[in-house]
Amino acid sequence: MSAVAPSIQKLHKQAEDFMPINGTDYIELYVSNAKQAAHYYKAAFGFQSLAYAGLETGLKDRESYVVVQDKIRFVLTSPLRSGTEIGKHIDKHGDGVKVTALWVDDATYAYNEAIKRGATHYMSPTVEEDKDGKVVRSGIYSYGEVVHIFVERKEYNGVFLPGFKKWETRYNPPSVGLKFVDHMVGNVELGRMDYWVEFYEKVMGFTQIMSFDDKDISTKYTALMSKVMSSGNGRIKFPINEPAPGLKKSQVDEYLEFYEGEGVQHVAVATDDVVKTVTELRDRGVEFLQVPGTYYDALLDRVGEIDEDINALRELGILVDRDEEGYLLQIFTKTVQARPTMFFEIIQRKGATSFGKGNFKALFEALEREQELRGTL
Ligand code: FE2
Repeated sequence: MSAVAPSIQKLHKQAEDFMPINGTDYIELYVSNAKQAAHYYKAAFGFQSLAYAGLETGLKDRESYVVVQDKIRFVLTSPLRSGTEIGKHIDKHGDGVKVTALWVDDATYAYNEAIKRGATHYMSPTVEEDKDGKVVRSGIYSYGEVVHIFVERKEYNGVFLPGFKKWETRYNPPSVGLKFVDHMVGNVELGRMDYWVEFYEKVMGFTQIMSFDDKDISTKYTALMSKVMSSGNGRIKFPINEPAPGLKKSQVDEYLEFYEGEGVQHVAVATDDVVKTVTELRDRGVEFLQVPGTYYDALLDRVGEIDEDINALRELGILVDRDEEGYLLQIFTKTVQARPTMFFEIIQRKGATSFGKGNFKALFEALEREQELRGTL
């Protein structure tokens, strides 16, 4: 049986790709203790030490640790004194994503195009240089206080960005097999989804490739709506969620309340062996949402033949969904900071290009069990 219901609208609009994006350059999180967060991403998620900037490189007000795993780079930044923009961001939102940096060939052109089309300025095109070459960066605001920074690095051979030095450590735990950022999801306020859909269409030349409404994504208590925006070449995918009225508070409402505004809900990272990756993550202390065992009883009827051992999937709690093009395996971590806000998805695509709609119900019921424990449902 096909898992793709007729209510999924696959929309293929013609859009001029005036802003080609090569990929995700880095994701920067503002956190209250960058040094400890970097250790967590290394120990638990299999990242490696890459670069550092702070007092030792001449910065006075902040410190950043950069960790890397294959094509994924996280920058973890904390303030070094009170009264900073970074500190205010953390005070309001808790730990969370501030920057999604996009790798482009021409950061000045990308900025000018975006501003011309209505984007809000964050950072004018700026050339940064050191002995390893030069980088041009520019930036615009997205939803909430999240920003996109365009990074042009064709003339740079250094470890990360000018101003950063190589961060070498004795403790270098092996990778867990995470490869690249598959998609990054934003939660926006009720009634604001279409505004941000239009923003990505108009300002960045993205196309809406999918939409889900509250008939697709609802349980007894909660509902949400989602539209998936994709860059012209498909390398960047930003689903955008807004809450839909339900009997109780939805997971998006809970996020908006605790994040005190719009922001990044989850970052999905790809692996090509989800069983191996999730086994390793679990052994290192990463906690995942669990669906009931009954999910697996009906799984093969729903998704058909799969290569993986279903008992291994059941044991780990990995979910499966199928679309016209193939299937995907996915699992969601519990939230990863003090506030019940951001989490990660681990995803392996075997042909499928969708986002696991067939799993939404089972997943949301798992999320609601977590909310219930927190008393926020
Ligand atoms: Fe996702």
